[in-house]
Amino acid sequence: MVRAVRATQVEIESAVQALRDGELVAFPTETVYGLGANAQNPAAVRKIFELKGRPANHPVIVHLDSPRYLHRWVREVPEPANRLAEAFWPGPLTMVMPRAPHVHEVITGGQDTIAIRVPAHPMAQQLLTAFGGGIAAPSANRYGRLSPTRAEHVREEFGDSVRVILDGGECQIGLESTIVAFTGEQVRLLRPGSVTAAQLREVVGELAIGPDFDSPRVPGGTPSHYAPSTPMTIVPAGEIDAQADAASSGGRRVAVLAQRLPLRSHKYVTWINAGRRPEVYARDLYNNLRTLDKAGCQRILVQSVPEGEAWEAVRDRLVRAASSIAESDDGTGGAMAVLP
Ligand code: TXA
Ligand code: MG
Repeated sequence: MVRAVRATQVEIESAVQALRDGELVAFPTETVYGLGANAQNPAAVRKIFELKGRPANHPVIVHLDSPRYLHRWVREVPEPANRLAEAFWPGPLTMVMPRAPHVHEVITGGQDTIAIRVPAHPMAQQLLTAFGGGIAAPSANRYGRLSPTRAEHVREEFGDSVRVILDGGECQIGLESTIVAFTGEQVRLLRPGSVTAAQLREVVGELAIGPDFDSPRVPGGTPSHYAPSTPMTIVPAGEIDAQADAASSGGRRVAVLAQRLPLRSHKYVTWINAGRRPEVYARDLYNNLRTLDKAGCQRILVQSVPEGEAWEAVRDRLVRAASSIAESDDGTGGAMAVLP
């Protein structure tokens, strides 16, 4: 597939017009596709919630083309946020900061904070610069479902309800941005992503992991999220062939997402080998799960991924997408790291 990373002027103009008219625009970022509305138009932002079926108290990220407009949205930029912006923007990092007084509560979910991201994708940059304001955008999927990493995923999910869908090809990262929040000088990782905890620590020193008692709500933090419609189970790595056989006994069709080829041929199993490289696995994850979801199977089995930070974001999404985690005989099936 030829990857169109820049939109034509006509495409950008029609997207900007849609935003000005209070309509929705889907656009690519390097993480996943966003479903965008003019962040200064509460009625337009409400349309996002209606279309996604998202609960009204869940806040959305405001996207900017650079930190130059930060002061319009953020009351006071925490000191470590400046250093993180310097290091990772534009890029796959979202920062939750104290909101400016005029920011509407439809954006913040009624909280005193606002999440800001400066995406790097050239088409997102084109759109944001041409629009000249903030674009509120969650991932362009129905609430709780798999995030879209291609324009056709957005079309399949929303069809004509979105006036403009900018097609920037396949998202290169494929998992949602890393989210951090600040309490005074403390920096806290709320959602793991391709900017890793180690990279954040290099810039800010200490880093707290996972939401604490006072942390703002993160819908991805609800137990089930990023999920296919077919029930999905995480299986200990060494048991994937045996469990695929067991689950497909009697001719039941089973889908498998593994990191290698099957050891033997399985009669009723649709098998995807997603490989052992974390970046490639992450980039393809949602598309692979969509493919398996459409394969007409009764279950999806996912081979458990390795321990270690390179796999943290993938592990987090898999655990949230799975309806259950199979226990292995030695108990390793339960040993998946789950952010509290
Ligand atoms: O990569 C991404 O972040 C993509 C692209 C489109 O930018 N967006 C995305 O948006 O994943 P969404 O809405 O699917 O997830 C954003 C997360 C949610 O879990 C939301 O609760 C959290 O950010 N969030 C937004 N505003 C927040 C706030 N004020 N405080 C805490 N969490 C916030
Ligand atoms: Mg989402």
